[in-house]
Amino acid sequence: MFDLVIRHGTIATAADIMKCDIGIQNGKITALGTNLTPGTTEIDASDRLILPGGIDAHCHLAEPMTGNLVMADDFYSGTVAAACGGNTTIVPFARQFKGQSLTDAVAYARQQAAGKAIIDYALHPIISDPTPEVLENELPSLIKAGYTSFKIYMTYEDLKLNDYEILSVLALARREGALTMVHAENNDCLTWMIVQLEEAGKILPRYHATSRPMVVEREATHRAISLSELVDVPILIVHVSGREAIEQIKWAQNRGLRLYAETCPQYLFLTEEDLGEKLDDSFAGAKCVCSPPPRDKKNQEAVWEGLLNGTFQIFSSDHAPFRYNDPQGKKIKGTNASFQYIPNGVPGIETRLPLLFSEGVNKQRMDVHQFVTLTATNPAKLYGLYPQKGTITIGSDADLVIWNTKREVTITNAMLHHDVDYTPYEGMQIQGYPETTISRGEVIWQEGEVKAQPGRGNFLPCGLSSLAQPKPVFKHS
Ligand code: URP
Ligand code: ZN
Ligand code: ZN
Repeated sequence: MFDLVIRHGTIATAADIMKCDIGIQNGKITALGTNLTPGTTEIDASDRLILPGGIDAHCHLAEPMTGNLVMADDFYSGTVAAACGGNTTIVPFARQFKGQSLTDAVAYARQQAAGKAIIDYALHPIISDPTPEVLENELPSLIKAGYTSFKIYMTYEDLKLNDYEILSVLALARREGALTMVHAENNDCLTWMIVQLEEAGKILPRYHATSRPMVVEREATHRAISLSELVDVPILIVHVSGREAIEQIKWAQNRGLRLYAETCPQYLFLTEEDLGEKLDDSFAGAKCVCSPPPRDKKNQEAVWEGLLNGTFQIFSSDHAPFRYNDPQGKKIKGTNASFQYIPNGVPGIETRLPLLFSEGVNKQRMDVHQFVTLTATNPAKLYGLYPQKGTITIGSDADLVIWNTKREVTITNAMLHHDVDYTPYEGMQIQGYPETTISRGEVIWQEGEVKAQPGRGNFLPCGLSSLAQPKPVFKHS
């Protein structure tokens, strides 16, 4: 007898579409077929689409911050919001402070997650201090323990690495087969821009976008590509915002370099006008301050094109939750302070999938297979979680989302489950929404109700990437 049978749904994966029932036992998919024997629980999914649970492989939860700044979401509110938005796995970050042991940073993130997460999670360490101890001892041990991808920054004073340090990290990644994610913005360029703008009295939130024009991202993207070419190792450029960085990535991919790229909802659905000019020049634009900043409509089109033509392999939220009306959030330095003090990042863990489904699949820009590829299957492959996660097949975890593809929704912050006091997508009308989320065979979100206990989410040790192979491997018999 099955624990759960889902009947009469239409199942779509990255490759296939089929109408059949799903039988689940002990948290795994054990049967796909018609007229399956009964389950202890049954769900009728007639007229519904069943997709693999989304994997949000770039989100920030309960990260330790400097000063009084506090992230609004912990691993409970963050994973509840993720589950209600159709996700069954997340990969947030374990942030290392300069001078801190990386192992301690990872232990801290694990403590934050334990007892709170309602869906499964892996972690990307953030390397801000690649000391010999980190590179020679800590990182190799962490990679063996399942932390096989990590993020490095080319900007932010307390996080950035110089080119020499980046090369050292990349060399280690090559040796161990790990995947390096790169935040690509030229720190000296944007710092110089900030000084020019502030000297001219231009401190409103919208000047954040002015201070980080596309050339800042383009130069750093090109440099990151060059460093990865020198070391001969794959990298992933995260949160790519527009045409100029995309051109660099395409150029590298066309040369045969193993270059992978991610983009996010803010680069499809926001523009720099959301930082100020569109509504007014009040501080409200701070809600949309993130880095790289949203660009313009033409760049949105370039990002759509990159999603469709394969330049981007994954679509993540980069959920970075800071409350707006909060002296420990967006207003940390008050509303008259320069844009440079506004914490960077926008919330989006719950809206990532509905936005892309509505504007991508339902508006016929992409098919459902591309949607699944970008939001579940490729994230699982990139970060060594496939086929346990990211697909619907016999033996995979029963991580499933039942979509009502016709449901019309007006996004409001009131309907969301994150602990942030705004959404940048307030008032947007979309079609298609996750109705039921199932994690390892357990219904955790159904009919508007969260049904999961905090702490049921498991830590996932990741294998090496099966998409971004460190070296092409040819086996001869
Ligand atoms: O503005 C952003 N993206 N903030 C979150 C941190 C990061 O760099 O991903
Ligand atoms: Zn970043
Ligand atoms: Zn981020």
